[in-house]
Amino acid sequence: MLIHQSLFSYNSFGIDVHADLFTAVRSIDQLAEILIKHSQPKMVLGGGSNVLFTHDPESIILHNQILGKEVFRQSDTQIVVRIGGGENWHQVVLWCLENNWGGVENLSLIPGTVGAAPIQNIGAYGVELKDVFFGLDAIDLTTGQSRHFSPNDAQFGYRDSIFKRELKGKLFITHVYFQLSRNNHQINTEYGAIREMLDQLQISQPGIQDVSRAVVAIRRSKLPDPKELGNAGSFFKNPEIDAVAFDRLQAKFPSLVFYALDNNRFKLPAGWLIDQCGWKGKRLGPVGCYEKQALVLVNYGGATGQDVLNLASRIMDSVEERFGIRLEPEVNIL
Ligand code: EPU
Repeated sequence: MLIHQSLFSYNSFGIDVHADLFTAVRSIDQLAEILIKHSQPKMVLGGGSNVLFTHDPESIILHNQILGKEVFRQSDTQIVVRIGGGENWHQVVLWCLENNWGGVENLSLIPGTVGAAPIQNIGAYGVELKDVFFGLDAIDLTTGQSRHFSPNDAQFGYRDSIFKRELKGKLFITHVYFQLSRNNHQINTEYGAIREMLDQLQISQPGIQDVSRAVVAIRRSKLPDPKELGNAGSFFKNPEIDAVAFDRLQAKFPSLVFYALDNNRFKLPAGWLIDQCGWKGKRLGPVGCYEKQALVLVNYGGATGQDVLNLASRIMDSVEERFGIRLEPEVNIL
């Protein structure tokens, strides 16, 4: 157990808070021992790529370092893999590509760990984690008991799951199972940006490796690398509105960018709304709104969580004033 550990290198925003007690968890046995010995509240940390620390955490930090990638079962066409929650997400995507297993290629280069991926149902370029999720194993932090969750149990939604709501902070996710294709991969190039990138790369019949390459290129061109510029990806969720609100808004803003989810629900890109309010590329002391994607807030160095939060709340006020929509943070604010 480490005492007064700086979390600077354990969160992608690069916020320098300290944990009174911090420990790496490498096995289920070790976790069981910690749960017996320490009765204080605990917080699980993965890659720290979706959190904003606004103060020193009071809980014991359990850093998920449970590793392991294995085949759980397979048929002629499908394979189920079982992955340790502490594995790096993108390394697992690369492992799947090396083995020619399809399903996660659109989720290439998302920062963070495998154990954190189901919590907010990570998604990008037309695919969400729920599309390949087969189940997960977790330990209940209060009782120490093992629990298994099926895809149905997980109650996935857009950037949402039971692990983010009723079970928030209650579980340590030890392993996640994914179901992937072994052949006849379903290539998903519906997202316009992927098609454009494939055209640019002159690839007309893309395989899963090509899709991954295109996604990596798009992400690198739009999203800041947390190693160079502190950030946690999209800071806000894309809001959803009903048809009445949509019609009213579109009449006022004819250039409104939107995706129709069904006849009565429309999703609006928060990045566009923020951009329209003039925030893109703006800086407020040590923090700012990223110049290539307004949905991403960045730490230029030395920022506190409160600095980021102040910027976020000014952006939320601007968007609300102009469009009548209150944005919701996607990042976990602690
Ligand atoms: N847009 C602007 N200005 C901006 C940013 C975006 O006008 O500054 C417009 C774009 O031109 C485009 C639309 O907004 O018409 C959507 O932009 P983009 O394709 O970049 O996607 P997004 O909706 O902003 C979402 C996810 C990303 C994910 C991409 C691709 C959320 C909250 N974000 O962003 O996820 O990579 O789609 O699928 O749903 C993340 O969660 O951290 C993340 C990066």
